[in-house]
Amino acid sequence: MDKIENIFAKVLKDIKPDDEESRALVAHTNELVERLKKAVPKDVEIVVVGSTAHGTNLRGDSDVDIFLLFGNGSSKDEITRRGMAYAKSIIRKENNERYEIKYAEHPYVRVYLDDYGIKADIVPAMKIHNIDEMVTAVDRSPLHVEFVNSRLTKKQKDDVRLLKYLLKVHHIYGAEIKIKGFSGYLCELLIYSFGSLRALLSAAASSFKVPLYINPLNSKEKATPDVIKKFNSDFIVIDPVDHKRNVAAGVSMESLARFVLIARAFMKRPSIEMFYGHGFPGTRARTLIDNFIERSGLDLYLIRIPLPDKSEDILWPQLKKVADETIDYASKFGFDVYISAEWIEHSEQGFIMFVAPRMHLKSRLAKGPDVLRGNFADSFIESHRKALGIIVKGTGIYALEKNRYSNIEELFRALASGKIIGRRKDLDFRKAELFVNKVPREYAESVFAQLFEKTSI
Ligand code: UTP
Ligand code: MN
Repeated sequence: MDKIENIFAKVLKDIKPDDEESRALVAHTNELVERLKKAVPKDVEIVVVGSTAHGTNLRGDSDVDIFLLFGNGSSKDEITRRGMAYAKSIIRKENNERYEIKYAEHPYVRVYLDDYGIKADIVPAMKIHNIDEMVTAVDRSPLHVEFVNSRLTKKQKDDVRLLKYLLKVHHIYGAEIKIKGFSGYLCELLIYSFGSLRALLSAAASSFKVPLYINPLNSKEKATPDVIKKFNSDFIVIDPVDHKRNVAAGVSMESLARFVLIARAFMKRPSIEMFYGHGFPGTRARTLIDNFIERSGLDLYLIRIPLPDKSEDILWPQLKKVADETIDYASKFGFDVYISAEWIEHSEQGFIMFVAPRMHLKSRLAKGPDVLRGNFADSFIESHRKALGIIVKGTGIYALEKNRYSNIEELFRALASGKIIGRRKDLDFRKAELFVNKVPREYAESVFAQLFEKTSI
């Protein structure tokens, strides 16, 4: 066995569910399906879809996707309402089971069997025989089961597992907005299209360029400019069960770029480390953060904000939005932010981290018009009467103005005391707290993990 195959074989042993886990998963899935059968009328079909049905699921990470397929003639609202009611009716609280409502294109129910560490998504959808009958975005899923199971070999399914795991370690697995990475189905199509993980990595390393077009049913097909325009994307992977759908639509260009870098690094120097990340001892996190601050000469700002008891899907985008807006706001006053991250701990504390160079800008030059091109210099001078000075450089005219913040720390202090944003949706910045460079010990591990993720590939 050569080096690459050896690495794949070793990793696969760790990440493929063993017989015991697979048996337990099948048993619990069947149990839920049996309960659902008793709860739904005869015309509602119950099918298992997703990675457990495809044989591409990862060890200890089992989410079961159970679909309730309604016959045609039903509306989306109706199947959603009925499907959620059926799903909730099968929960047995006395068995430590609970549920959460999740929101995708339409809402569905996520059931947690806490005693077994299993979660199951119960999703209402429309029963379709032909893609033209599609009503909701998830109606394709049963067709995906058929495609994957009839086309992918066992070896290719194992390669899908390796690919999913590799992407997970590098934080680019999953289509959700937080990640904007590769979905499970996209991984399946990529392995099918290239034949193996090795071939996929080799192609990604040497020849992935945008616009990147892949038709799994015809690997030689090239995209015409029309097709690229129609999909309005630089990364297109055609869904073989629905030619109008781009399975890669949710992948950001950053995720694709990261994937190419990972593939290049692995093909150049194959190493098992690539699959396990670098890791670091948690106890050293504080020292590692201090070292980073010292060596980079940058400052680390950590904002902690209490959160209400809501799901991360709702809270995380709010943190992300504030972080992005703050970076824009800071740039208005001339301040750069090099790194930002946002995360949630124990579903009760939100964190926004900024890493920025130490910049003092008590005053700034505002650029005015050119004196010799137009007549606007006078009105510029008039409107900057209160400036610290008016400066002429060449034919240009500038006002030296006092900056609203003398340095970026002042700006973050204002943010963390509710003076820039008071309360917005679930975030109350009047209750936030700011830590500058000195990260409290209890958060050091997660801060360093974020810092590490943002500064390495
Ligand atoms: P999941 O998100 O549960 O992914 O979607 P998965 O393939 O089962 O992988 P893991 O192991 O749970 O991470 C379930 C099904 O929903 C459809 C696909 O049919 C997929 O198999 N789906 C999901 C999409 O078509 N596109 C998506 O972006 C997400
Ligand atoms: Mn799944």
